[in-house]
Amino acid sequence: MIKLELDFRGSYNLVILLVFSIVIIPTTCQDADVMNILKSTINSPLTFQWTDPDVCKWRRIQCDSSKRVTAIQLGSQTLQGFLPKELGKLTNLQRFECQSNALTGAFPYLSKSLQRLVIHDNKFSFIPGDFFTGMSNLQEVRIDDNPFSPWQIPNSLRDCVALQTFSAQSAGIVGTIPNFFGRDGPFPGLIFLALSNNFLEGVLPASLSGSSIETLLVNGQNGNNKLNGTLAVIQNMESLKQIWANGNSFTGPIPDLSRLHQLSDVNLRDNQLTGVVPPSLVNLPSLQVVNLTNNYLQGSPPKFRDGVGVDNNMEGSRNQFCTNVSGQPCSSLVNVLLSVIEPLGYPLKFAESWQGNDPCANKWLGVVCSGGNISVINFQSMGITGTISPSFASLSSLTKLLLANNSLVGTIPNQLTSMPLLQELDVSNNHLYGRVPSFPKGVVLKFGGNPDIGKDKPSTTASSYGFEGSGSKNNAVGITIMILVGAIVLLGVGALLFIKFWKRPDNDWRKSRSRHEIMVDHKYQWDENVMNASVAGGGGGGGEGGGALSPTGNMVISIQVLRQVTYNFRKENIIGKGGFGTVYKGELHDGTQIAVKRMQSGITDETKPNEFTSEIAVLTKVRHKHLVALLGYCLDGNERLLVYEYMPQGALSKHLFNCKEEGIKPLEWKTRLSIALDVARGVEYLHGLTEQIFIHRDLKPSNILLGEDMRAKVSDFGLVRLAPEGKASFQTRLAGTFGYMAPEYAAMGRLTTKADVYSFGVILMEMVTGRKALDESQPEENIHLVTWFRRMLLNKDSFQTMIDKTIEIDEETYESINTVAELAGHCSAREPYQRPDMSHVVNVLSSLVEVWKPIVQEVDDVYGINFDMTLPEALQRWQAFEGKSTINLTLSPSSLQTSGDNTHSTTSPNVSSSNP
Ligand SMILES: *[C@@H]1O[C@H](CO)[C@@H](O)[C@H](O)[C@H]1NC(C)=O
Ligand SMILES: *[C@@H]1O[C@H](CO)[C@@H](O)[C@H](O)[C@H]1NC(C)=O
Ligand SMILES: *[C@@H]1O[C@H](CO)[C@@H](O)[C@H](O)[C@H]1NC(C)=O
Ligand SMILES: *[C@@H]1O[C@H](CO)[C@@H](O)[C@H](O)[C@H]1NC(C)=O
Ligand SMILES: *[C@@H]1O[C@H](CO)[C@@H](O)[C@H](O)[C@H]1NC(C)=O
Repeated sequence: MIKLELDFRGSYNLVILLVFSIVIIPTTCQDADVMNILKSTINSPLTFQWTDPDVCKWRRIQCDSSKRVTAIQLGSQTLQGFLPKELGKLTNLQRFECQSNALTGAFPYLSKSLQRLVIHDNKFSFIPGDFFTGMSNLQEVRIDDNPFSPWQIPNSLRDCVALQTFSAQSAGIVGTIPNFFGRDGPFPGLIFLALSNNFLEGVLPASLSGSSIETLLVNGQNGNNKLNGTLAVIQNMESLKQIWANGNSFTGPIPDLSRLHQLSDVNLRDNQLTGVVPPSLVNLPSLQVVNLTNNYLQGSPPKFRDGVGVDNNMEGSRNQFCTNVSGQPCSSLVNVLLSVIEPLGYPLKFAESWQGNDPCANKWLGVVCSGGNISVINFQSMGITGTISPSFASLSSLTKLLLANNSLVGTIPNQLTSMPLLQELDVSNNHLYGRVPSFPKGVVLKFGGNPDIGKDKPSTTASSYGFEGSGSKNNAVGITIMILVGAIVLLGVGALLFIKFWKRPDNDWRKSRSRHEIMVDHKYQWDENVMNASVAGGGGGGGEGGGALSPTGNMVISIQVLRQVTYNFRKENIIGKGGFGTVYKGELHDGTQIAVKRMQSGITDETKPNEFTSEIAVLTKVRHKHLVALLGYCLDGNERLLVYEYMPQGALSKHLFNCKEEGIKPLEWKTRLSIALDVARGVEYLHGLTEQIFIHRDLKPSNILLGEDMRAKVSDFGLVRLAPEGKASFQTRLAGTFGYMAPEYAAMGRLTTKADVYSFGVILMEMVTGRKALDESQPEENIHLVTWFRRMLLNKDSFQTMIDKTIEIDEETYESINTVAELAGHCSAREPYQRPDMSHVVNVLSSLVEVWKPIVQEVDDVYGINFDMTLPEALQRWQAFEGKSTINLTLSPSSLQTSGDNTHSTTSPNVSSSNP
């Protein structure tokens, strides 16, 4: 990333004009330097003609009109050597290709503007785990056949929202296939995913369902565990043309493929697939090649139409087809038995044992014959799951049907009552429910150990088994997972004991907001898209959750739950109110408290959905002990709710400005100091310690919330912006609060992290003086705190009078206040470059807090935890839109006009520029 340290004093217009020329001149020189370094680290052949002083004339290099290198294409040149890390400085690089060479060493970081990365068939030993961070333009990744040291597919790959091709075969990948390659994931355009010949294990994630992937290659995993589970998800990948899943440990049947109208190349050989080859595969019109050898497939050997390439030769096949002749049907007995184990998911143990076309000729597991007829089915204690098939009734010679001690679900089929010779039915110790059908007299029935037998419905836990057939087995697992996740989220909610207050509910609020807070044209083009995406992804599932949680995202909480915990949003539970809506206190069963922010509904104000999604997206990405944690959210019709930890002491503004009214004790200096440090740490984290740079844009005391222990957390991330990669400054439409807004941002919409530093400086001033950023009760020249503060700071005597009267001052305190006052002055310096970084602020404040160390608890995990959140996939799209839209955002003349008008009417942001 380029750091722009602009050394210009003077008008902002000048700065704007100069920004571009400053950037351009040094970096083109740099590009040449970088190219010369590259030339020296590889054996560039003479044919490259890399001699001209102008690197843009070099072969295999392309530049743009401003002479920046945009493409390096060095494929198949028998290159040796390594790539220098300086390549990362080619910030306009869009294509990097060096495939089929013998390059070695670690692969360097490259520019975030990269679109194509083609480096397969080399000897690179390492690729940085965070290589893909922020690569929002990357469309094509081909890194196959490199001896990378073991690495996992990093979460940061989610940043590559433009991804179409990700090919990393034989690339040393370990771990599992992440759950973000799917319809609701960050890659709406992904069509090629190749992960063959790695060391992947675990299952094909359910999130692949509905994806746009056309080619999925996961074959030949080399680890001990390989990929496992069923292939059920494939039935929902309707864009698939090619699936290679061979050479793994997949189990269960081949799913119904009838909806995969483009599927032509299917390789499933060398797994442990069981069951009957489905007609939907055999009859698939688009099918061209199919390989099924070496599984435990059962039933009739499939006969594919002429022209389909099949490797399914009977010779050497481990499959368990009933005959050796393709297309020849199995005996009716075999068919019945296969239909009986279908709803059990064709367990492998049966497939292994059931050979040939006569269950009584060979010893089939669980099948007892007498005189060539099946007399007993004994599937007791086999660990089978699924439902009892009505097809058992077709085994008319059966005398005993023994299914005890399994995990069978559903009901006892009525059809079983018609079995003429049945003497005993034992289904004890399962999870069956429903009425026991009336069997003829003399049939011994055993159904003990089924807690819900006789009941109309399974009890709640048992309901998670409510599935039929093997194909739905995954749903059951999904539902179970959903319930577990729900429980975990609720536990998480319960575990947090903090109260969150929102903005001050004072009557003055609306007035002051309309006067000082501007939201100029906050309606971004993409709002609607974002909301649609979120509603489809998150809220849609919320309804089905039935009071529990949606399967689509573990942060989705149903409206029913939220109604319950807030007593249907009753007045008594309101703890904050503002233009955005209302904040309610909620209480969970166990008495722990949460804060529920309910966006004003029914108002067609597009700023609200934007703030809503923006806040979710930010809060799920950033986690820090000094940032208020989002626990969940809810989208239901018009309802938009956010759930936070509860912060019992409310907003800092209350403690600074409303002590008397609230009847609370004014804050001691050391408490203020510790709050300031907490906030500084939170903001420092936002600015640089996450993977991306976030700018809060609306720091102010009403957005700083206090816990029981008076430790502070920053809240209200509705206006947070993600800084575009590689840009230290960008223009954006205005949003924020006058009095706290940095002048360059208020006047020109130029946004950097230094805008937050400015706001933080104002907050420090408020802590020192106990005065609000804009104080209408003061004479005109003193209304604006920053101006007044600066003036007072110049004079030692006046300084003393400015300190909040409620602070008890001794010598030590005075020194400390003095230092903070100076820091505040720096932070709120007129020019962004004169303001310190937040890390500097943290240093200064923590050295002051040190003095009172015993009071302040040890802050060990300062940097917090950046959980790998399972972000509701719909919100990934927000990022995509966010990333693209910020680039284009400029202040329209009209919005400039508006902000200018406001500036004059309030005098506030103007003050600093008129300040001597
Ligand atoms: C799949 O393999 C993993 C180990 O990689 C194992 O923990 C898990 O139980 C297996 N799952 C199934 C369904 O076999
Ligand atoms: C799959 O079957 C096709 C058609 O018979 C054959 O050409 C191909 O080599 C097979 N692939 C594998 C991996 O067995
Ligand atoms: C299929 O053929 C093999 C030998 O070619 C034989 O051993 C096997 O018993 C046959 N299976 C059936 C079901 O006929
Ligand atoms: C087997 O079943 C057939 C017809 O279902 C019947 O004729 C025959 O007697 C049965 N054999 C035995 C030993 O029960
Ligand atoms: C079922 O399991 C229980 C306890 O494990 C055992 O006592 C009982 O004998 C088993 N019943 C059958 C029919 O296998």
